[in-house]
Amino acid sequence: MGKTKKYCYGLCFLISIAINILFTINLYLGGGQEISGRPLTWSEKAAAEAEGVAAISCSGHGRAYVDGIVSDGKPVCECYDCYGGTDCSELSPGCAADADSGDPIFLEPFWMQHATESAVVISGWHRMSYRYADYTTMSTQLETYIRKLHSVVGNAVTEGRYLVFGIGSTQLLNAAVYALSSENSSSPSNVLASVPFYPMYKAQTAFFNSESFQFEGDTNSWQLNNSTNNMDVIEFVTSPNNPDGELKKPVLGGKTIYDHAYFWPHFTPIPGPSDHDVMIFTLSKLTGHAGTRFGWAIIKDKDIYEKVLNYISFADLGISKDTQLRVLKLLKVAIEGDGKPLFRFSYKKMSDRWDRLTSVMSKSTRFSIQQRHPLHCNFFNETRLPSPAYAWVKCEREEEYDCGAVLEAGKIIGRTGSSFSAEDRYTRLSLIKSQDDFELLLQRLTVLVSLENGSIKTM
Ligand SMILES: Cc1ncc(COP(=O)(O)O)c(C=O)c1O
Repeated sequence: MGKTKKYCYGLCFLISIAINILFTINLYLGGGQEISGRPLTWSEKAAAEAEGVAAISCSGHGRAYVDGIVSDGKPVCECYDCYGGTDCSELSPGCAADADSGDPIFLEPFWMQHATESAVVISGWHRMSYRYADYTTMSTQLETYIRKLHSVVGNAVTEGRYLVFGIGSTQLLNAAVYALSSENSSSPSNVLASVPFYPMYKAQTAFFNSESFQFEGDTNSWQLNNSTNNMDVIEFVTSPNNPDGELKKPVLGGKTIYDHAYFWPHFTPIPGPSDHDVMIFTLSKLTGHAGTRFGWAIIKDKDIYEKVLNYISFADLGISKDTQLRVLKLLKVAIEGDGKPLFRFSYKKMSDRWDRLTSVMSKSTRFSIQQRHPLHCNFFNETRLPSPAYAWVKCEREEEYDCGAVLEAGKIIGRTGSSFSAEDRYTRLSLIKSQDDFELLLQRLTVLVSLENGSIKTM
């Protein structure tokens, strides 16, 4: 019985390899392009091309893409960090673990498991117009699904609120500052955030160099030096915060922009629906599709909504219709099963990474990471620890004030504390990259911590 099963598995495996080879030859050597004796339809041809490229395994350490570089008629593997060779099978031994960027590749396996439901075929003539039939530039179907998603997750109130789409939440951050800044005022509105804060707030506000707003730095320092009667302030409240994962509250009593990029069950328990004047979300940290460049703002006040909408119109005449189609497809998958398949997957991935990270870091006195506090999650209906996107590492030894340099000597690349207007005694490590990236990061941290323990023993 067991032997027969083994033969069956073996035979199936060989047949599947043979089919793959035939499929790839057929695709790239231009043979056939027929099915049951008839030519492929345009969608079958597009699907065959997409599946042919997806079938290139790149040893599991890279990906080939339909729009990637082609060599000898075949798409080339784009290898993950530290892997090389034509099939990404070669690990470069001394390679540093790069935990710098917030690229959310940790969700890639979920989408591979949901390949059938999430794929999109776009015809050559799909929505060529600037606008939809209702003369808007925003898909009402997509808007409906975004509202459904928030209601399923319970993380934001959308009833009676306006929605505006942006090219990532990045575009909406400045659109919101513009919309909230005081017109006809003799002095610019003051834009602030609480240290440590996401660097883009400062960078964008400075870059756009407007007469209507200026970046004034940290809320707490500002409060010490300014009287509360000059309250023309716009405060970014990042909840959960990048870099430390804290559910931030406003410090000043002025206007607020709630940046909810990470307010999803993978990163934090959801204590209840957020209900603020301006709330900004992004697809990047929800489904992991940062490359799609899509975000949305939920706005209470009609005037503010119109200003944000105007900003998007003047900057871009709206968001790509191809992007909106793709986001719609992804959100349909996200809300399947009331969001349980996606958020169970993503929470498990993040909490596993945190369990393994805390186990390594608990053996260290040289490094510490942020404290996490349990909170009731309405979505999962239980009390859970947060599993933030980033570890906010502190170097505890007095002489090690440049934590980035200490980690770099241990072949770990993080993002320095000063990037977040904090001390360089802190470094941010990204935990949302690919599994390969995370494994290498953990390996390098384990070595660093064990060296520390070894040196303690010999002292
Ligand atoms: C707090 C925060 N807000 C906004 C963004 C921008 O996201 P995107 O422009 O990809 O939507 C990021 C990206 O890392 C972020 O960390």
